[in-house]
Amino acid sequence: MDNILEVKDLAVSFQTFFGEVEAVRNISFNVERGKTIAIVGESGCGKSVTANSIMQLLPKPPAVYKNGEIVFNGENLLNKSESEMTKIRGNKISMVFQDPMTSLNPTMKVGKQIVEGVRKHRKISNSEGKKLAIDMLKLVSVPQPEKRINQYPHEFSGGMRQRVMIAIAMASKPELLIADEPTTALDVTVQAQILDLMKKLKDEMNTSIIIITHDLGVVADIADELAVMYAGQIIEKGKLNEIYYNTKHPYTKKLLASVPKINMDRNEELHSIEGSPPDLYIPPKGCSFYDRCDKAMRICEEHMPEFIDHGNGHCSACWLNHPQRVSKGGVE
Ligand SMILES: Nc1ncnc2c1ncn2[C@@H]1O[C@H](COP(=O)(O)OP(=O)(O)O)[C@@H](O)[C@H]1O
Ligand SMILES: [Mg+2]
Repeated sequence: MDNILEVKDLAVSFQTFFGEVEAVRNISFNVERGKTIAIVGESGCGKSVTANSIMQLLPKPPAVYKNGEIVFNGENLLNKSESEMTKIRGNKISMVFQDPMTSLNPTMKVGKQIVEGVRKHRKISNSEGKKLAIDMLKLVSVPQPEKRINQYPHEFSGGMRQRVMIAIAMASKPELLIADEPTTALDVTVQAQILDLMKKLKDEMNTSIIIITHDLGVVADIADELAVMYAGQIIEKGKLNEIYYNTKHPYTKKLLASVPKINMDRNEELHSIEGSPPDLYIPPKGCSFYDRCDKAMRICEEHMPEFIDHGNGHCSACWLNHPQRVSKGGVE
């Protein structure tokens, strides 16, 4: 298998005044070249820390890499110097953030911002730059690109700004695109357009994509693989269909039940998940989902579940799935 990225046993903490926050706790996942993986989970479960670790964007301190490797094209990014990372970041790996207004420069014309990133990595003439900016805006379906390259971010709507962000990220033709909640700030119709656009880019440019979201509904169309994060850990991962139709972890089941379906009866109840994830200052000894799980057993409180392989790359960390569990009739 040709993996562009392999995250192995990655653990990242923050040293704070109040103690250590164990934000990412020994996660492992791979991104196959040309494929899309979605990382899903509630707010605060470590998705952005994972993304920023790959980009090496976390300030150290307070961040500390406690364990693991981030292997991109066969090389561990955790061993790279800042100057080596500068050559990779915004070039071979690009990132799109949730809020385009904070990442776009309000004082610079949009066309110039698209070309600027590429200029850091290779020489291009003014006319080449102009053509690149127009081509990128065309690619992300911004109308009238010749006029738009000379406008400033505030002249764009929210959805159009997010397209510009994607144009900037794609201008260097990255091998890996990381999109951290790229559609969260947008309304549903624009969300769908941005996802369609990312699918188009993946197909046309064979870009590998990591899409991060707290909304499982968002990923159904675009992801090949899914990794579900909870309290800094991956608790289930595998092929999208495998997880949708053969869900193994009670948390994933609840996440799926909280996605509104298009053909849903209006009287049908939408289940949001009660309670909130545990504090990562003192993570629970056993399963992190223990106190919110209606299927919890005694062992779950005391011992962290092992990762069970269900075949075909589908794994889950839940004692219910342990092969030696003595099944009580009617429990599931
Ligand atoms: N700079 C920081 N200092 C201390 N704690 C942090 C810092 N950045 C993130 N965290 C903590 O790490 C955990 C994971 O955060 P994050 O990855 O942003 O979650 P999300 O899944 O919503 O993207 C949270 O508990 C958050 O409070
Ligand atoms: Mg986040």
